[in-house]
Amino acid sequence: MTDLIQYTTRGAVGLITLANPPVNAFSAAVRAGVLEALEGIMADDALTAAVITGSGKLFSGGADIREFNTPAGMQSPNLPELIEKTEAFPKPVVAALHGTAVGGALELSMACHYRVAAAGTRLGLPEVTLGIVPGAGGTQRMPRLVGAEAALDLIVGGRPIKAEEALELGLIDEVVESDVVDAAVALAEKVAAEGGPPRRTSELEDRVTADRERPEIFEEYRKKMARKARGLESPYACVECIEAAVNKPFAEGLAFERETFVRCVESAQSKALQHAFFAERESGKVPGVTKDTATRPIERAAVIGGGTMGAGITMCFANAGIPVSIIEVAQDGLDRAMKTIEGTYAGSVNRGRMSQDAMDACMSLITPSLGYDAVADVDLVVEAVFEDMSLKKEIFGKLDEICAEGAILATNTSTLDINEIASSTARPESVVGLHFFSPANVMRLLEIVRGEATSPETLATAMRIGKTLRKQGVVVGVRNGFVANGMMLPYIRESEFLVEEGATPEQVDRVIFEFGFPMGPFQTMDMAGLDVGWRIRQAAAATRPESERYSPVADRICEMGRMGLKTKAGWYLYEEGSRTPVPDPEIAAMIEAASAEQGIERREISDQEILVRCLYPLVNLGAGMLEEGVALRPSDIDVIWMHGFGFPRYQGGPMFWADQIGLGEVHRVMQELYEQHGELLQPTALLTQLAQEGRSFGDWSAE
Ligand code: 3HC
Ligand code: NAI
Repeated sequence: MTDLIQYTTRGAVGLITLANPPVNAFSAAVRAGVLEALEGIMADDALTAAVITGSGKLFSGGADIREFNTPAGMQSPNLPELIEKTEAFPKPVVAALHGTAVGGALELSMACHYRVAAAGTRLGLPEVTLGIVPGAGGTQRMPRLVGAEAALDLIVGGRPIKAEEALELGLIDEVVESDVVDAAVALAEKVAAEGGPPRRTSELEDRVTADRERPEIFEEYRKKMARKARGLESPYACVECIEAAVNKPFAEGLAFERETFVRCVESAQSKALQHAFFAERESGKVPGVTKDTATRPIERAAVIGGGTMGAGITMCFANAGIPVSIIEVAQDGLDRAMKTIEGTYAGSVNRGRMSQDAMDACMSLITPSLGYDAVADVDLVVEAVFEDMSLKKEIFGKLDEICAEGAILATNTSTLDINEIASSTARPESVVGLHFFSPANVMRLLEIVRGEATSPETLATAMRIGKTLRKQGVVVGVRNGFVANGMMLPYIRESEFLVEEGATPEQVDRVIFEFGFPMGPFQTMDMAGLDVGWRIRQAAAATRPESERYSPVADRICEMGRMGLKTKAGWYLYEEGSRTPVPDPEIAAMIEAASAEQGIERREISDQEILVRCLYPLVNLGAGMLEEGVALRPSDIDVIWMHGFGFPRYQGGPMFWADQIGLGEVHRVMQELYEQHGELLQPTALLTQLAQEGRSFGDWSAE
């Protein structure tokens, strides 16, 4: 038998243990091993029942995603076959679950005759997040156990639940605080002793019969999910499968599920979503940092500056249970920061997203401080004061004097050179960028900026902090705007040029929204506040070459005091209390005047041109950043755009998206744009090279 399965007996019970680290995925060898073990139990008259469990931290993460669309994935027994054979097994089979049991692992468990879970086990069917439906009976068995409404929430939502909730729903039979395998063996012995045929989920009809009387629940659910599922195929496919479970006999429902699974797994969306899954995990692998790199435990933290970012970052630490001091220069600033934090938490409590107890616990972890005494005994400081190099250098000089040896000194700067900041300390190896995005307590992206001198230990600790704060960390190099904001530049710039050439802000925003972003560039600018970009442009004005094309419209809007949503006017107008952008004729006239001034003849601009002009230049710059080594791999850029700017996950991120179009085509269009519009759109060397060689970013990173 394969060594990916351990097999022993406990009295009259055969115990099958999945042993395929790191997540006990059901690869071909594991499936064959489980089946072989079951057959052994069948053949042994001394054995009356079977228990299936997992070794290590979890039961299993489900099917082996790397086998999707490969011959190994279908190698017999495939997952549906193994699961059917498990349910049909004549002796009772009990699943002993701990840690996590998701996807195919929960599908197998639902086909076992009984399910026992250790307290706190996470159970779920996350297939929808990979652009597929559960394909091994999950959509058919779950409604039979928990009813169609709960099944819709679990399967379409894709979010795992805890064993305690699963017990209440009827998904599992027992939750134990004691050893789960002991409990499962005891249950297996008991049901075997009682005799009678095993209880088979596919034969449970009560729930689906009741649901058949309420066909409206599916239409209602489709309406409810429409906003979240915009642009996605698999959530709707999941609803159809659950509907089939309710309306068709089990075997027919199963066949429908299978057909749907095969269609989904081959879809472009699923491939993009699988890419996103692996890209997120890949971003945690960084040259020079290994599993053995020492990290500093972060028991206490301090945040310097309690403005927009500092207050949000402080909340991130408190939310993760880490005591944190927030430091301001004057009492009124400190009071304002604490008021912001308290107000934000209170808002969550009012909306029912947080309990009052949880808010109190978070507030009790935050210590407001004036002066730097509080940093003496912390493991990590995050500086978030004004974007001013001399101020930051002064602060890092002070931190160097006061902080304990080995403490991590991080800056949240969005544009300044981290190497220069580090040079104001005698320990540049401890300095790193932790670039949060606004609002810091909400946005998941964290750019971890590696300076020239940042040590592997500092970097490894920063990466661990990212995980502790439940952020999606991506390591990047030092460059103006790093990777995220740096790549935002051509996107914003081209959208502004497009409106000067004949498009309207609302047309550009519609095209980008329809592509799958939550909103287009003009609405995004209004939301973020136009003053941020204005200040950056003012600072850069002196160094901008005269010959470079520059759109004055955004500056003029700011000069009118229109700073976006917060002043109820920016690129759009906003009615009191509303976030809905209303096109403003005054802005349209201003744009037309700017076109005329610059001698630009306005023309009809197609949606396709808008898409290409907004997105290809950022892909082009992404390639430049790969050449420079500021971004480590194309998939890191994808992760940054998905988590930082809402690039639609089902498009896989800009670099994956470009690969699907073909870099030859992307390069051809870029070359044309370069010829029409000049040097800002010149194809980068890496894009040109890959296009000429007929290769993709994916090929390049696999080298
Ligand atoms: N198949 C293949 N590889 C997997 C995997 C899977 N199902 N689940 C995780 N991995 C890999 C990861 O890529 C990572 O590999 P790496 O070390 O080379 O980067 C490694 O296992 C560890 O993964 P995580 O870092 O995510 O580990 P965590 O401990 O944080 O989380 C987990 C564990 C909750 C199981 C999480 O990995 C997870 O959510 N996995 C995916 C679960 C899933 O979507 N399953 C459904 C699969 S589809 C299915 O079952 C099909 C069926 O319906 C037919
Ligand atoms: P902000 O102006 O809202 O807050 C800065 C705070 O620092 C103020 O409350 C000020 O009183 C305080 N401060 C100034 N000098 C101080 C000192 N010596 N000691 C302690 N506190 C001091 O600025 P914001 O927007 O929070 O930005 C902070 C940093 O974060 C900047 O470096 C900025 O570039 C960066 N950043 C900003 C983002 C944003 O969207 N606002 C996003 C990501 C990074």
